[in-house]
Amino acid sequence: SAGAAFAQGTNGYPTRPITMIVPFAAGGPTDVVARIVGDHMSKTLGQQVIIENVVGAGGTTGATRAKRANNDGYTVIMGHMGTHAAAVPLYPNLAYDPATDFEPIGVAAGTPILILAKKDYPAKDLAEFVKHVKANSGTLNMAHAGVGSVSYTTCLLLNSILDVKPTAVPYNGTGPAMNALVGGQVDYMCDQIVNVVSQVQGGSIRAYGIATEARNPALPNVPTTTEAGLPEYKVSAWNAVFAPKGTPQPVVDKLADALDKALNDETTRKRLLDLGSDLPEGDRRGPKALGQLVKSEVERWSKVIKAAGPGN
Ligand code: MLT
Repeated sequence: SAGAAFAQGTNGYPTRPITMIVPFAAGGPTDVVARIVGDHMSKTLGQQVIIENVVGAGGTTGATRAKRANNDGYTVIMGHMGTHAAAVPLYPNLAYDPATDFEPIGVAAGTPILILAKKDYPAKDLAEFVKHVKANSGTLNMAHAGVGSVSYTTCLLLNSILDVKPTAVPYNGTGPAMNALVGGQVDYMCDQIVNVVSQVQGGSIRAYGIATEARNPALPNVPTTTEAGLPEYKVSAWNAVFAPKGTPQPVVDKLADALDKALNDETTRKRLLDLGSDLPEGDRRGPKALGQLVKSEVERWSKVIKAAGPGN
């Protein structure tokens, strides 16, 4: 019977591969973090964690899919600050409540945000960029990963500080948006560090500032926004694993333990740190910390988005 199968699934869990939904395109920041963390979780769980990219609507299509999935531990999602916080004030009819429709498993990585432009953007530093954007925003294109995504909300904040309205060009993730930036089809973007390190190092794009208190060891030559003269712009994002509401507690515990072990593993840590991630430690880890983070982030972004006004 279904009941017996369910009970067996809980006891022997996991007995088959686990799908981790990534609500953005392959090759982008969420996908990369999911694959790195999922790799090590597979070892602990003894079953493969298979990544499924479910794109659209700034990540809310994939998050809706995850909410509606069977709550048996065989579907989880790598959500983020957009899908599980900023989407709330941006989508009045959002099909899920990030705080009540999911079992938080844990934060996987903090992801600092950078202000980036195509390599021949006519500004040598952030001060010149600010001046140029203010003078030309009517003709500029800003790439993002859909309304509600991290790149959308963090650039909404930047644009409101600069009081500019560029043309916002949506992609299914900042993986493809980055390709457009490298190709010079768009002018600028705000993106998570894990998506930009190799391009900045290789000189295929420009990085004008990182919106954190301190410089990042993965990109030590990129100044902070404070150093570069825009201290008002300070923002960062995060990626986190969620299961559908009602996933049995022992299963939640197993998933949380596997995530914890991944974040303790030296190879996994190095892979994430080399990409500039800010790894959660101590009381920033686990289901309880993530549950609290979601609540405080929904509140924070509701205020930010209200203050920033409607984007475009
Ligand atoms: C992605 O994986 O493409 C990103 O997390 C998109 C974003 O939220 O900007």
